[in-house]
Amino acid sequence: MKQVYLDTFGCQMNVADTDRMELILFHSGYQRTLEKEDADLILVNTCSIREKAEQKTFSLFGGLKPLKRANPDLILGLTGCLGQQDGKKLLQRMPYLDFVMGPDQVEGIAQAVDRVRTTGKSFVWTGFDQEKAYSIPEISGDLPQTPGASAFVNIIKGCDKFCTFCIVPFTRGREKSREPEELIAEISHLVSRGAKEIILLGQNVNSYGKRGLKKAMPFHELLYCIAEIPGVERLRFTTSHPNDFTRETIRAYRDLDVLQNHLHLPVQSGNDSVLNTMRRDHTIAEYLELLTELKSEVPDIALSTDIIVGFPGETDAAFEDTLTIMEKVGYSSSYMFAYSPRPGTPANDLPDSVPEEVKKQRLQKTIAMQSQISQQQGQVYIGEKVAVLIEGRSSKPGYAFKGRNPQYWNVNIQGSDLKTGDTVTVEIEQVSGHSLNGKALL
Ligand code: 5AD
Ligand code: SF4
Repeated sequence: MKQVYLDTFGCQMNVADTDRMELILFHSGYQRTLEKEDADLILVNTCSIREKAEQKTFSLFGGLKPLKRANPDLILGLTGCLGQQDGKKLLQRMPYLDFVMGPDQVEGIAQAVDRVRTTGKSFVWTGFDQEKAYSIPEISGDLPQTPGASAFVNIIKGCDKFCTFCIVPFTRGREKSREPEELIAEISHLVSRGAKEIILLGQNVNSYGKRGLKKAMPFHELLYCIAEIPGVERLRFTTSHPNDFTRETIRAYRDLDVLQNHLHLPVQSGNDSVLNTMRRDHTIAEYLELLTELKSEVPDIALSTDIIVGFPGETDAAFEDTLTIMEKVGYSSSYMFAYSPRPGTPANDLPDSVPEEVKKQRLQKTIAMQSQISQQQGQVYIGEKVAVLIEGRSSKPGYAFKGRNPQYWNVNIQGSDLKTGDTVTVEIEQVSGHSLNGKALL
């Protein structure tokens, strides 16, 4: 078999796209290798959400150039959001590339490789499929990899929200949902191969079912359907937008035992004026009202968020509002970012008014604030017995396995006679960062 080396930057959607390309290529005679030097084909699935992600891609390709020079038969492809965004410019900047594709061409990866082999010419393949429903047809036969205890399933692609800072609606196009029958079949298959937990994926999962289906179906109904699939022990979803997060979904948390008590609900900023310029279309009061309702139904739910600091027009006082909301909500974890202007987005036309140095300081402050909050939040688990789905070996010295509790905390576990996929009760003894450490009870 020929060898393919795959590298992925960015979000879980990209990780899922890379897995999909691996599967398709496997059926065209390629096996995944972890050594670039052994590869006949190298694919880098890229991200363009922030400038840093782009820089990392360029430096990776710099390192691949000598490989291509030494072996002209090596095929080098760039896929994903940076490909969509910069298309031809990338071939000009890196003439040793064989092809550039966008995220909507994942299904065509084998054709793209064939085209390079038969024509020997480089090309760009971007553009969105406007017609077809979003479908990921199952490929029969052997699969290259078995799923882990926790498996991701794409339920919707694209985003129609157009937050002013965000490139995603431009790189991934309009929202399209996958048919529920297809999802149920895929999840049943994953579970039959050993998956215990299913994480539903999308840029805005709460918008599921509005577009692209033969018959519209709201997100919460999908949750109820999946919860009935035998063998699904845990169910999660990410990411959610506050404006599409419904009361019915709150009820699903209450009704469905398998739906785990964690919600990633990005707030981005704690200041109404900044939220308005970001086009988030809700206020902080509305966001907090939603959380109050959620907490009244599901008191032990853990919340996590995304935060952007240094957005155009963010004053010191506005930034303080972000620290205040973090403290008020008591997030278990946060993904925190310095604002990075993205070409073609509406916010890119605003003056990037916060100096880089100030952005950095603000970012450090949010990181310090979050680690203090996580430490506090973690204390409530000390001495508690929590249910942990074991996902693999722990890298922490003295701990055999790692997994997650329902609230999505990492848990390092001491114990013997355990195996991946088991759910065990762990008595928590310590907190460090966003991890809990403890021993398995027999
Ligand atoms: N700059 C900084 N962070 C961004 N994000 C999206 N676009 C940008 C940008 N231009 C962050 C948001 C989003 C997460 C996936 O990435 O917080 O929720
Ligand atoms: Fe980007 Fe906003 Fe869509 Fe999230 S909801 S992907 S931040 S445009």
